[in-house]
Amino acid sequence: MTPHPAARVRPAEQADLAAIRLLIETAFGTRFDPAEPEHIWSLFPVELALVAEAGGRVVGHSQAGPMTVTVPGGELPAIGISGVAVAAPHRRRGLLRALYLEQHRQFAADGIPLAVLTASEGGIYGRFGYGPAARENRIRLDRRFARFLPAAPDPGGVYQVAVPEAEPEIRRIYDRWRRVTPGAQERPDAAWALRFLDPARLRNGGGDLFAFLHPDGYALYRHHGDQSIEVKELRALTPEANAALWRALCGRDLSHDLDAALPGDDPLPHLLEDPRQVRTIAGYDTLWLRIMDIPAALTARRYDADLETVVAVDDPFLDAGGTFALRIRDGSAECAPTAAEPELSMGLDVLGAIYLGAHPARAFAAAGRLRGAPEPLRALERAFAWPRDAVLGWGF
Ligand SMILES: CC(C)(COP(=O)(O)OP(=O)(O)OC[C@H]1O[C@@H](n2cnc3c(N)ncnc32)[C@H](O)[C@@H]1OP(=O)(O)O)[C@@H](O)C(=O)NCCC(=O)NCCS
Repeated sequence: MTPHPAARVRPAEQADLAAIRLLIETAFGTRFDPAEPEHIWSLFPVELALVAEAGGRVVGHSQAGPMTVTVPGGELPAIGISGVAVAAPHRRRGLLRALYLEQHRQFAADGIPLAVLTASEGGIYGRFGYGPAARENRIRLDRRFARFLPAAPDPGGVYQVAVPEAEPEIRRIYDRWRRVTPGAQERPDAAWALRFLDPARLRNGGGDLFAFLHPDGYALYRHHGDQSIEVKELRALTPEANAALWRALCGRDLSHDLDAALPGDDPLPHLLEDPRQVRTIAGYDTLWLRIMDIPAALTARRYDADLETVVAVDDPFLDAGGTFALRIRDGSAECAPTAAEPELSMGLDVLGAIYLGAHPARAFAAAGRLRGAPEPLRALERAFAWPRDAVLGWGF
C-alpha cells in the first residue's frame, strides 16, 4: 500500500461539518434528511470526531459517541464508532488506519473498556481487534401459511396504537428489554428521534411506521407495496409478548410476506405447525466489539460455568493484549495479568466475538483461531455461553 503523501489527521471542528456530511453522503450514496444531522451530531459529538485532511479538504472521517452496552448479567460503558468514510480517490493509502490509530489511542487513554461498531463490510475490522459479537437472521414468513400450533401461547393483549401515542411506552419497554439483552445499548433521545423521524432514505421505498403494543413488547412495521410487511423492530420481554405480537402480525389480512430480523434463539419457527415457513434469507453480523480493557471486560460479565485457566490474547493493532489468569466461580470472574504459561491463546478479535456468547469457542478453535487442549477449550465454551442471544439494540 502506498502511504498517503499529504494527509494529516486532526480533531474535527464545527467548520468541518458540511464537508463531513458530503463525505458520508458520497461514501454511502445517500442524502441525509435535513433533520438528521442535528441528531447524528448529538449522538456523535464533533469534539470526539477526527478528520483526515489533504489539500485543504476533508478526505477522511471517523466519529465516536459514548454508549452503555449490556453484557451478560451486567452493563459496561463503551464508545461507539460511526460515520467512517474515506473519499474514494484517497482510499487504500492508510487513512482509515491512521484515523483508527489516533482514535483508539485516545479511547485507551480515557480508560474506555469496550469499543463497538457496525460494519459495512466483514473484512475490514478484524485487523483492528474487533470481532462480530452479535448476529441476526433476516427471515421471511408468508403469513397466509403460518398456522400456530394448538399449544402455542395465545395470551392476547396486543393493541394497534398510533405511533406518536405508543412512543413513550415503546421507549420504556425498550429500556427494560435492553437491560437483559447482551449487545443492546441504552438508547438516547437523539437515537429515538432518528427512529421516529424515519427518513425516506432508510425506508427502502416503504411507507410509514405502524405500531403494535403489548404490556411487555412492541412491534414497529411498515408496508412495502400491497403484499409485504417489513417488521422494523420487534422487542419482547417475555415469550408470551413475543407470541402475541407475532400472532397480531400474522393476522394482517391482505398482506403476504412478513420480513423481519431475528436472533438465532428466536422461538418463532417453533410456534408454527410448519417451522419451515420461517425462511432464513440471510444471516449476518450486527455488532462488532473490540475489548479495550481485558480484565475490566471479563470481570464485568457473568458466566454460566466455572473456569480456571490462563489465556494469552494477541492484539497486533495496539499491542494491548497479554497473558491473563482467568478464574470464574459462581458466575463471577477474577482476571489479572500473569507470567504463567497460557493454556489458551487467541486474537483480540476472537475474544470480542465470543465475549457476549454469540459464538461457541469450538467454531474458532476449528478455524485455528483459538488454540488450546480440548478440555480447557470445552470449559471456556461452557463458561462463555449465555442463555440469551446477543442483539444489537439500535443501529448506528
Ligand atoms: C472502508 C474505508 C473507510 C477504508 O478506508 P481506507 O483509507 O481505504 O483504508 P486503509 O487504506 O487505511 O486500510 C486499512 C486496512 O484495512 C484494509 N481495508 C480497507 N478497506 C477494506 C475493505 N473494504 N475490505 C477489506 N479490507 C479493507 C486495508 O487493506 C488495510 O489493511 P492493512 O493495513 O492491514 O494492510 C473506505 O474504503 C470507505 O470509505 N468505504 C466506503 C464507506 C465505508 O464502507 N465505510 C465503513 C463504514 S463501517
